[in-house]
This record gives sequence, C-alpha cells and structure tokens, in this order.
Amino acid sequence: MPPLLEMRGITKTFPGVTALAGVTIRIDPGEIHAVVGENGAGKSTLMKILSGVYPHGSYEGTIVFDGAERTIRSIRDSERLGIIIIHQELALIPLLSIAENIFLGNERATAGVIDWRETHARTRDLLARVGLAESPRTLCGRLGMGKQQLVEIAKALAKEVRLLILDEPTSSLNETDSEALLELLLQLKARGIASILISHKLNEVARVADRITVLRDGACVRTLDCRDRTIAEDEIVRDMVGRPLTDRFPPRSATVGEPVLEVRGWTVRHPTQPDRSVVDGVDLTVRRGEVVGIAGLMGAGRTELAMSLFGRSYGRWTAGTMRIGGRPVDAATPRAAIDAGLCYVTEDRKHCGLLPDESIRRNIPLSNLEGIARFLVVDDHRELAVADGFRRRMAIKSPSVEQKTGTLSGGNQQKVVLSRALFADPRVLVLDEPTRGIDVGAKYEIYRIINDLAAAGTGILMISSEMPELLGMCDRIYVMNEGRFVGALPAAEATQEKIMHMIIARNG
Ligand SMILES: Nc1ncnc2c1ncn2[C@@H]1O[C@H](COP(=O)(O)OP(=O)(O)OP(=O)(O)O)[C@@H](O)[C@H]1O
Ligand SMILES: [Mg+2]
Repeated sequence: MPPLLEMRGITKTFPGVTALAGVTIRIDPGEIHAVVGENGAGKSTLMKILSGVYPHGSYEGTIVFDGAERTIRSIRDSERLGIIIIHQELALIPLLSIAENIFLGNERATAGVIDWRETHARTRDLLARVGLAESPRTLCGRLGMGKQQLVEIAKALAKEVRLLILDEPTSSLNETDSEALLELLLQLKARGIASILISHKLNEVARVADRITVLRDGACVRTLDCRDRTIAEDEIVRDMVGRPLTDRFPPRSATVGEPVLEVRGWTVRHPTQPDRSVVDGVDLTVRRGEVVGIAGLMGAGRTELAMSLFGRSYGRWTAGTMRIGGRPVDAATPRAAIDAGLCYVTEDRKHCGLLPDESIRRNIPLSNLEGIARFLVVDDHRELAVADGFRRRMAIKSPSVEQKTGTLSGGNQQKVVLSRALFADPRVLVLDEPTRGIDVGAKYEIYRIINDLAAAGTGILMISSEMPELLGMCDRIYVMNEGRFVGALPAAEATQEKIMHMIIARNG
C-alpha cells in the first residue's frame, strides 16, 4: 500500500537551535500514528511544517502526499490537500457560535448572503458525527475544553479532512472527555481518515496508535509498530529518554511540621452570577514540609479555590480566614499574597503565566524583583545568574536565557513558570496541574524539585487531574466536588477507587 504521506529528511533550524535534523516519517492511509518525545524534541515543529505554518523554503527536505511531491506554502495549501491541524492551544473564538466557528472563512453563502438554515443544518450533521448534542447556536466560550476539542474536529470534518493532526489534544481534558476523543479517532480511522496524535500520555498512545514514532533531540529514534504486538509504556519511555526510567516518582521521607497555611470557611461566589458559590466553606490545612493534594473532577472548583487564595484573583470572596505561618493574612492582591509567602503556579500559562515576548531571563525573576536588585535597581549580572541557575537546575531546553519564552516548547514554558514561583521562595506553594504537557523524564525532575522544596520546609498544595500523580506525591489528599471538600485521605489510605467513590457518592 503506498503511503498517504512521507516527510523525508526534514531539517529545520532556528537561530541557535536545530529543532529537526533530518527527520523521515511515513504515514499510511487510515492509520493512527503517534508522535512522542521529550519536551523540545521537535514534535510541534514537524507538524507546523506539514501544515504550512512554516512554509516551503523555510526548511530542508521534501513532503510527498498522495503520491506527489508537494510545496506547502501556507495553511490554506495544506488544508486544500486535506491536512488539518488542531494546535496545542485551541483556536475557537469564544463569542461566536459553534456554527459560526465551524464555517468561519468557509461560509455557506448564496450570492454573498450567508445561508443560516443550511449552515445550521450542516453543523448539526457534523456535530452528530463527533457525538456532540449541542445546538449549533451555542457560543463556543460556553463549552468545556473537551467539547471545544470536538468542535475543532467537527470543523476539520467540514473541510474534507484526509489527515488530521492533533497536538496534545487530551492534555487538558479529564478522563471521560479524553476517552470520547480517542474513541472518535478510532471511528474516523474506520472511515479511512488517518491521524497523527501527539501526546505525553503514553497509556493513551499505546492503546490507540497503530504505530509510534519517537523523536529525540530533533531526530527520529525509532518507529514502533503496535499492530503485531503490544508495546509496553516502558519501551516507549526508554526510546524517548534514551535510558530506562525505573521509577515514576522519586522517593521521599516527609518531616511534617506545624501548619503553614490554615484556611477556614473559605467561600467565593461566581464573578458574574453572585447567587452561585463556586467555593463553599472550605477548611484546609497545609503543614511545613507537607505535600497536600486536591483531587476532583474538572469544574469542581479547585482552580477557583487556588486563585481566590492567591490574592483573590478569582471571583467574589465573601467569607473565610487565611493564616500563613500562624499569622492572619488578608491578601487582596496577588502581590500581597506573594509578600505574605504564598505563590501560585497557574495551569493556564497562555493567559496568566508568561510574558511570551520576553526572554527566559526576564520572566523568571518577575516574582521577586528585590531578589535581583541592588539599591532598587535590577542587577543584570544577578538576573543572569539567577535565570541561568534555573535553566540548568530545571533542565530548560534552550541555548541561552535570552530566548523568548514564547518560542520555547510547551513543556519548557512550564518549567519557566515553575522557576519563577520557586524564585519567590514561598512558604506555601500552590501548584495547579504542574506537569500538564510535561514529558515523563521532566515530570520526574519536577517531582524531585517538589520533594526538595518540601524537605526544606515549604508547604505544597497540589491540584492535579492525574490521580497517579496525587497518589505518588502527596502525604494527604482532599477531595473536592461542586465547590466543597467532601473528604480527606492520608496518602497511606488513599486509592483511586476511594477518591472516585467520594466524588460519586456526593453526586449520586
Ligand atoms: N520560533 C522558534 N524560535 C526559536 N526556537 C524555537 C522556535 N520554535 C521552536 N523552537 C525550538 O525548537 C525545539 C523544538 O520545539 P517543539 O515546540 O517542536 O518541541 P515539542 O516536541 O513540541 O515539545 P513539547 O512536548 O514541549 O510541546 C525546541 O528546542 C524549541 O525551543
Ligand atoms: Mg509541542
């Protein structure tokens, strides 16, 4: 069977970085082909070349699609061939309806007038194909991430897709939504639509992929075939990292001290619907040297809780007290929270994390400008030393700290965000999905840093949707549902089943 796509000898350089060095990859018709690799391995870059984001001429190598060599100069060119990419960061416009988003730039019109009947009818059709029961009129901003992802796929189907590219589609989805998405990929496959799936969730990859290509440092290490044998996750990890990774969680011995964070009766209302409590009477304690987790489903109010504690940066705080190190704290701004010793690392680095046009060096010290200042002036040498120290310690993949953070790979951006919080040297560090989009090797490094911080006496509060991560890292786990804490478990007693049971008991 002739391949659907062949990318041959693809080499792409950025100033100071070789992102891809002679990558060759072949995609068969109707297969699900996974591309995996560490943060910065070159996965997104390869897909941007294929989809015309980086046009023909800006890289070396050739692309053969459907039996002919192609020059792809723009996204339009790739879409004309039926190659459709859904990027790591979704691109739907929140204030437009589903139908408007799907047919944006591709309107159903007669004599220049948009035919809404036809548009809505076709949208309904497409939504049915991706298993969504929403009205075509629903605004995209109202949909959760999982549903937005499905709308993106519906949009791809509206364009006669032959090869669908998904760059970490499930990284911000819960388990149910991820399942639905992968199921849809399998259905598309049954109808002959090939897909390329980029993901750090190796269990998903091993389950749905026909073949897996592993990239390391911009080169293709190996392509594993899952059609004739089951591929173990460990085998993929070994190829990705270049060595076997025996443990997923570093060992730690916790010495837990007195409470550093005590929150009582914390209640927060929705910012625009004041009759809704998003956080309702939460009591919470984190001790010195303790790693405390918050488990819960998407929408349980965990991020809202964390953000409201962080200088009331979410919602309308109505009641509750907070003590840090035994002292009452009334932090009405993030700055005041940082000064009081509480730092928050957001799950959403695009909107409230990094300054993408600034260098790594400028981004890291932002949490603690005094730490790099002398006589109230930023000391360039100190700034450089601090940033470079973090670059090494966190293994941020970049030739120098002068690189703009916006051009770092997703996982490396996360390391910069984390470095910044560490530099403030907080007494309490709140981490919201700290390893989202992070490769397995780097996850281990981040866990090690969390353990070191705890050992040095920092109290850690960690929100995560990855249950194994909570179970592997925490001393104690709170379970949150619909704005309330519905249970707490010491690590020794916690299991995935018990946590799910607490959540479901509440809903049932
Ligand atoms: N516009 C750019 N300018 C400079 N360097 C870049 C640019 N885009 C990517 N790079 C570099 O190219 C390399 C590959 O990045 P890429 O985004 O493809 O990695 P990735 O495999 O998708 O990683 P992740 O899993 O973190 O998303 C990285 O070292 C990155 O810093
Ligand atoms: Mg990427």
